[in-house]
Amino acid sequence: MTAAPILSVREAARHYRSGDSIVKALDGVSLDVNAGELVAILGPSGSGKSTLLLIAGLLEPPTEGEVRIRGTLVSKAGEELGRLRDFRRRNIGFVFQKANLIPFLTASENVALAMEIDDVPARDARRHAERLLAGLGLGHRAGNRPTKLSGGEQQRVAIARALANDPTLILADEPTAALDGARGRQVIALFRQIADTRGAGIVVVTHDPRSLDLFDRTIELTDGRVIGERSGPVRIPAR
Ligand SMILES: Nc1ncnc2c1ncn2[C@@H]1O[C@H](COP(=O)(O)OP(=O)(O)O)[C@@H](O)[C@H]1O
Ligand SMILES: [Mg+2]
Repeated sequence: MTAAPILSVREAARHYRSGDSIVKALDGVSLDVNAGELVAILGPSGSGKSTLLLIAGLLEPPTEGEVRIRGTLVSKAGEELGRLRDFRRRNIGFVFQKANLIPFLTASENVALAMEIDDVPARDARRHAERLLAGLGLGHRAGNRPTKLSGGEQQRVAIARALANDPTLILADEPTAALDGARGRQVIALFRQIADTRGAGIVVVTHDPRSLDLFDRTIELTDGRVIGERSGPVRIPAR
């Protein structure tokens, strides 16, 4: 028997009303992500990438279609998602373009907070936060506030925070957009490592063609639809 995918989005649509017309932000998209898989979502601005992540991450319900996590139907058209708040926090880690760290907390306090919300005792949370930061090469930065960190370091703290509850699914929306090419590649390499070592399923919206070789699969959206999908790392032709 093969295990159910960590994430399975089936025929998801999301329609927004805009004045008299309807915007089809997403128009029948299906996506499966297995344990240990790192999947890239590509597509022009406005193609529905963020909408797909919101639906996959149980932050918004689809207008049509459904979302399964490890085979269990958790979200479908017309159903409110408020009841899934705890489930989401325990199972899904989010990373956004901006790190959005709390400025008056240190790096390790920012990461620990994600666990304390889930009733992990403060001392255990702090110890685990420091371990996570050390694992991401930020052990020496654990006691620093965000303003003392570079953009790449802040983004790694945000990734540590996303990992705090050991999620099976990680969703990242343009996490490298604010970083230079080398730092951006380090962040994607980190996701690759997390997929390989923890078996998390990871979906990353990215514009950066230079790191596509690190992904298992690439899905391309246009106008809310999948227009291309390739398995295996994308090989960038040598110049
Ligand atoms: N809350 C919303 N209300 C109305 N239209 C929206 C909303 N969110 C997204 N859209 C529209 O849906 C389309 C897809 O948006 P989005 O998923 O943010 O695209 P991307 O992340 O690929 O840039 C765009 O045309 C956008 O304007
Ligand atoms: Mg977007």
